[in-house]
Amino acid sequence: MDKRHLEETKEYLQKRGFEDPEIGIVLGSGLGKLVDKIEDQVIAHYNQIPFFPLATVEFHSGKLIYGNLCGKKVVVMQGRFHHYEGYDFVDITYPIRAMHQLGIKKLLISNAAGAINLDYKMGELMLIEDHINLQGGSPLAFKEVSAFGERFVDMSNPYDTELREQARSIAEKHDLPLNEGVYAAVVGPQLETRAEYRYLKIIGADAVGMSTVPEVIVANHLKLPVLAVSVLTDECDPDNLKPVDVEEILKVAGEAEPKMITLFTELIKLS
Ligand code: HPA
Repeated sequence: MDKRHLEETKEYLQKRGFEDPEIGIVLGSGLGKLVDKIEDQVIAHYNQIPFFPLATVEFHSGKLIYGNLCGKKVVVMQGRFHHYEGYDFVDITYPIRAMHQLGIKKLLISNAAGAINLDYKMGELMLIEDHINLQGGSPLAFKEVSAFGERFVDMSNPYDTELREQARSIAEKHDLPLNEGVYAAVVGPQLETRAEYRYLKIIGADAVGMSTVPEVIVANHLKLPVLAVSVLTDECDPDNLKPVDVEEILKVAGEAEPKMITLFTELIKLS
């Protein structure tokens, strides 16, 4: 990590018109349609942005989009980086640091996740209340970390209390079922075995996915209030497990997307 790199990334984006965004948004797999609502878009492809990692997974289009959403200036990551694509945790979270450098004051994150808690149903949303990092690494484990903030970052309340309260009241007002629970992050890209799903339940996870936690750790490092929502795309029932179908996961994510869009746009209006 090099501060000069971040500075160069910021200057490039500002020159392209990414001026003073207030809110940063990360859109998960199958959850890209929020960008259709952004007005006066400026688009920067990840592979054009200095020091950004390159996007690889087919279903991620890999763009940073700036514009106006519900009257607020936003910067949106359409597609994110995963450890399973071969990036290290510092690379994965570089765009979060870049958005912070541009001036965002809040971060909203979405992802697709499997439901470990079988009271939760496919296609429903889960507000992440806490997490378990099973990815075996940290985005803060690098030599120069102290130059960017504290090394021993407090994680006693990683998901912003006020944003979560706002999300709950929006869900109630719009009749959206909103579960709340613990997200466990695994590396992937293979899905879990039945024994792993049993283990995840025992350790207290309500949902499992392959992202989000590194970004949330860095947001906490930057003291950036963060909210994260999972779209539950499959039921992880170890006693009744069907072979996984990634197409099906993306389809469920797409069908649930309008709920996520309502939640995020209403949160933005309140910002
Ligand atoms: N496991 C891990 N990641 C996932 C899953 C799952 O069951 N569903 C969607 N992302």
